[in-house]
Amino acid sequence: MGADQPVLESDTRSIAIISDIHGNIRALDAVLADIAAQDVERVVCNGDLITGSAHAAEVVARIRTLGIPCTRGNHERYLAEMDDPADAKWRAANWTPTQHDYISLTPGQHAWLRELPELLWLCDGPAPLVMTHGAPGNDSARLTAQTPPPEWRNLFADFPAGITLVGSHLHWFWQTAQSDYRFVRTPSVGLPLDGDVRAGYVILRRNGDGWRAEHRRVGYDLQTELEAFRASDYYQASGIVGHLFWEELRTARWWLMPFFAHLRHLCNISNAAPGGFGYSHEDLAAAWQTFDHSQYPEYNPDQGAFPDAN
Ligand SMILES: [Fe+2]
Repeated sequence: MGADQPVLESDTRSIAIISDIHGNIRALDAVLADIAAQDVERVVCNGDLITGSAHAAEVVARIRTLGIPCTRGNHERYLAEMDDPADAKWRAANWTPTQHDYISLTPGQHAWLRELPELLWLCDGPAPLVMTHGAPGNDSARLTAQTPPPEWRNLFADFPAGITLVGSHLHWFWQTAQSDYRFVRTPSVGLPLDGDVRAGYVILRRNGDGWRAEHRRVGYDLQTELEAFRASDYYQASGIVGHLFWEELRTARWWLMPFFAHLRHLCNISNAAPGGFGYSHEDLAAAWQTFDHSQYPEYNPDQGAFPDAN
């Protein structure tokens, strides 16, 4: 499976796109059951299978067993970059959830995750369709209604007219259609951040020379997932950052980004500082003592700037 050959037949008419499962096996299984009842031909996954809730290995096993074509998200990239012993930043206290996933995944799972492509051509033909986690060449790009037109033009310069690009990463559904391209940003299966705790995914159905996106939400046993997460070794090992993931799962609101904005402010570290995303347990504990989540707005990425955090 390469980035240059379409992975689906050009006459495919319906595709379920899941993404951002983040170790939440109950949300994934509920979404897969919903997809099975929706008259959909194919299922694909747009990255971030791991880190968040406590079941990364189970999620990877499920996706592999089902043979679901998958791109690499930023969280899978972190796992590969942790191999570099010269890079001390990955041993910092804020990376404890990823460190735990690193040791709990099997060698076969590591190898499979490392081979995932950054971008997948899904269909060619009259309704070309391509999928990548953030934006082409940047798995952490935030494409929103705030993204300026020149950036969009650059982004689509190398794609054929009429392309539909599917992105993810922000855990918040959004779409835009221009004369020569369409962009669909998927919601999150396992860690929604738009205030709706139900699992989210998208179904694309062929609509002439394009695709019509249906945003679906699926209720599941969140309470049991929260309890299993809280009782896990992963939660115990993950410290404050693991707890922030737990709060995001519980509330479907942003906790990590405003926390890291607060932490940067406390430590007087700018976004541009080398190694600025590596903190000690003492840094995290001091920030947690003074972090008041209620002062952060429930912001919509399409309606305002993010706090100063990566
Ligand atoms: Fe994600």
